Amino acid sequence: MSLKTNSGPKSEPGIPIVVPRNRPRRLRSSEGVRAMVRENEVKPADLILPLFIVPDSRPRVEIGSMPGVYQDRVADAVATCKRAWELGIKSVLLFGLPETKDEIGAVSWDPTGPVQSAIRAIAKAVPEMTIIPDVCMCEYTSHGHCGVIVDHRGRKDVDNDQTLELLVRQSLSFAEAGAHFVAPSDMMDGRVGAIRDALDDNGFTDVGIIAYSAKFASGFYGPFREAAESAPQFGDRRSYQMDPANSREAMREISLDVEEGADMVMVKPALPYLDIIREARDSFDLPIVAYNVSGEYSMVKAAAEKGWIDGTRVRDEVLMGIKRSGADLIITYFALEYAEDYKKRKI
Ligand code: PBG
Repeated sequence: MSLKTNSGPKSEPGIPIVVPRNRPRRLRSSEGVRAMVRENEVKPADLILPLFIVPDSRPRVEIGSMPGVYQDRVADAVATCKRAWELGIKSVLLFGLPETKDEIGAVSWDPTGPVQSAIRAIAKAVPEMTIIPDVCMCEYTSHGHCGVIVDHRGRKDVDNDQTLELLVRQSLSFAEAGAHFVAPSDMMDGRVGAIRDALDDNGFTDVGIIAYSAKFASGFYGPFREAAESAPQFGDRRSYQMDPANSREAMREISLDVEEGADMVMVKPALPYLDIIREARDSFDLPIVAYNVSGEYSMVKAAAEKGWIDGTRVRDEVLMGIKRSGADLIITYFALEYAEDYKKRKI
């Protein structure tokens, strides 16, 4: 640093100024230079688009708390996938809303169910699209919990070991329909191993597992439960989803899923858990997926609607933050609109 007397036109003459030796601002001086030194980029291929599939008897409906997100019939989902593929999105995550529900969610392994039908139709219409059905019981059970309910020491709870068999049946049914990966989101212990064994024993050695490994019991899932009609009818999910206070436990969950044969591991939600994403990135060499969940989407949409924030700018910043924290892939309801803007920007 040196001290000089300012003789520049814009300041008071005679006021001493400091001339710094290091000037990081040189690397921010124009968009050209900024682009040269940009460390991260979010590409459409980094994004996984979630879709909610309803039976064909129901209309296509926009989800109230998630503007721009719909409950799609199979044909709507196919049309969306075609558009997504043209925009550079390579994968979709499917959730199903069945015609009927029961205590154990048996309808989830019906080969004619909405997800199974969507898998077949998407695979036919967009053969290169990677199709990832979410595996869980909560969309299919009458009580909205992620497994079999039993009485445990005087209160109702989800039974881990009975639920595994149901998750296996559901996974096999999705594999049978043509899924490329299954994504168990239930948080039962041992489900990755149970699903891996069942897939292998049934000839589906090429079907991979994207494990929701560090899935936290979160208030940010609220709008999803409207979209998937899967709110628990009593209690909450804290006896199976993780405590938001825990990060060492998240690493343990991830390493168990890696041992059991997961091909990719997930952290969910994303924004309040960027430290977990970073730690997972530094500790494991598998692809890390982050789920930018429904509440994270709705917050941005709601504030933008009120004119409180610039929704597009905040969206891009959110996705960049998740990428920069170490996620290879981001599941996000912003996928389509981001990919559309990305394409416009590239021209
Ligand atoms: C199913 C499941 C949920 C989400 C993904 N899979 C809901 C939940 O656990 O209650 C949430 C996704 C989102 O909020 O966008 N278990």
